[in-house]
Amino acid sequence: MMQTDRILLRPWQESDAEALYRYASDPDVGLRAGWPPHKSVEESLDVIRNIFLNDTNWAIVLRATGELIGAMGYMPQCGLNLPAREGEPMVGYWVGKPYWNQGICTEALQLMIAHIRRNTNYTSLISSHYVDNPASGRVMEKCGFRATGETAIDDTLEPGKPHLMRVLRLELKSTASATIRLETPLDYREVENLTREAFWNVYAPGCVEHYVLNQYRNNPDFIPGLDFVMEVDDRIIGHVMFSKAEIHRPDGTIIPAWTFGPISIHPDYKRQGYGLKLLNYAIGKAREMGVGVLCMEGNIEFYKHAGFVVASTLGIHYHAEPEDAAVPYFLAQELIPGYLSTVVGTADTATDVLRGSDGTDPQTSTSCHRSVGTYHTPKGYYVAFENKDAFEAYEATFPPKEKQAQDGQLRSE
Ligand SMILES: CC(C)(COP(=O)(O)OP(=O)(O)OC[C@H]1O[C@@H](n2cnc3c(N)ncnc32)[C@H](O)[C@@H]1OP(=O)(O)O)[C@@H](O)C(=O)NCCC(=O)NCCS
Repeated sequence: MMQTDRILLRPWQESDAEALYRYASDPDVGLRAGWPPHKSVEESLDVIRNIFLNDTNWAIVLRATGELIGAMGYMPQCGLNLPAREGEPMVGYWVGKPYWNQGICTEALQLMIAHIRRNTNYTSLISSHYVDNPASGRVMEKCGFRATGETAIDDTLEPGKPHLMRVLRLELKSTASATIRLETPLDYREVENLTREAFWNVYAPGCVEHYVLNQYRNNPDFIPGLDFVMEVDDRIIGHVMFSKAEIHRPDGTIIPAWTFGPISIHPDYKRQGYGLKLLNYAIGKAREMGVGVLCMEGNIEFYKHAGFVVASTLGIHYHAEPEDAAVPYFLAQELIPGYLSTVVGTADTATDVLRGSDGTDPQTSTSCHRSVGTYHTPKGYYVAFENKDAFEAYEATFPPKEKQAQDGQLRSE
C-alpha cells in the first residue's frame, strides 16, 4: 500500500465491484481512456478479476472517506501498438469525474512511479493519451514524462478508425549509472552518429556537428586527452570534445584559450542531468590539465550550472559582434582563478568583477571595466560550410533523415 496525506493506492478486491461501476460506467471517463463505459456491476467485477487483481494495478482511495475514486496501474509489457522499447511497461489511470482537476491523479501517479523505482529494474515507462484529452498529458508531464511524438492506433472503441495518440516516456535511470571514459577510434562512427542524432534539426534544419567532429580529430587544435564518451548500460549516450582557441590582445599578442563542443546527449537522455554530469567531469579534467580559460557559444541558463558567466563580464569580446555589443550567448569561465589577470597583467582584474566588486551580478551582467581581448572561434568549426561537397558526401553515408525547419533554430540551411 502507498499513501499521501490525501489518497492511498491499495490492491483491488472483488468487493470493489460496485464502487468501480459507479465511476467506470461514466462515458466521460472510459471513452477518454480508450475503453467502453461499464454496463453492469457484473462487468466491473469481471474487470477486477481479469485485469486488476495483480501486483501492478491499484485502486485510488480517498483516505478521508475510504471512497474508491479511481484506478492507477501499469501493464508490464506495452499492450498498445506504441513505439515502446523492448519490455517497457505502459502506464494507465483514471479518476472519477467529481474529483478531476484537484491534483489527485498526479499524486497517484507519483506514488506509483516511486514504487516502481524502488521495487523494479525498469529503466523507463511509456504512456499515451488521445490528442483531444490534454488533461491526461498534463498529469504525465507533471510527473516528469516527456513527449516523444504522436502515433495513430487502432483501438477497441472504433476498430478500423485509427485514433491519434500523443506518446510520452519517463526515464527512470539516475545519472549515477553513467560512466565516462576517453573516446577510442572504435567509438568514432557511433559517436558521430550520436552527435547527428543529438543535433538534428535543433539549431538548423539537419545539422553539421557530426562532420565537425569527424574532421576535428585530425586538427592540431583537437585535444585527445579531453575527448570523452559517456555510457549507460554499455551504450554511448554522450560525448564532448575540447579544442585549443585564442584570445587576441589589442596589441597583437595572443592569450591561449580553450573551447569545447560539440557536446552531445542522445535525445532519449536529454534533460535528465547527463549533459551537466559529462560537462562537469570534462571541465574538471581540463582544469587538471592546466586549461586557464574556457570560452564558448551557448545558453547561459544551462551553462551557468557548470560555472560559466557571460564572457563580457570577464572583458572578453566576441569576434563576430561589435566591441560594445552585449553578447548574452558568448560565455566564458576561468578554470585557473586569476588566469586572465595574470596573462593581461593589470590590477583591474577580471576576478574583481567576478567577486561582484562593481555591484553587478556576474552571472547575468554583460559589462566589464576593461578589455582582455577578442576571442576567435577556431577555424575547425567552420569545416562543413567551407567544404560543402565533402560534407554532403560524408552526410550521405548515414541513413536518410528528414530536415525540418523548427521554432528556435538559429540558422536556415
Ligand atoms: C486524465 C485524468 C486522469 C486527470 O485526473 P486529475 O486527477 O483531474 O489530474 P490532475 O488534477 O492531477 O491534473 C490535471 C491537469 O490537467 C489540466 N487540464 C484539465 N483539463 C485540461 C484541458 N482541457 N486542457 C489542458 N489541460 C487541462 C489541469 O489544469 C491539470 O494541470 P495543472 O495542474 O497544470 O493545472 C482525469 O481527467 C480522467 O480520469 N479522465 C478520464 C480518463 C482518462 O482520460 N484517463 C487517461 C487516459 S490516457
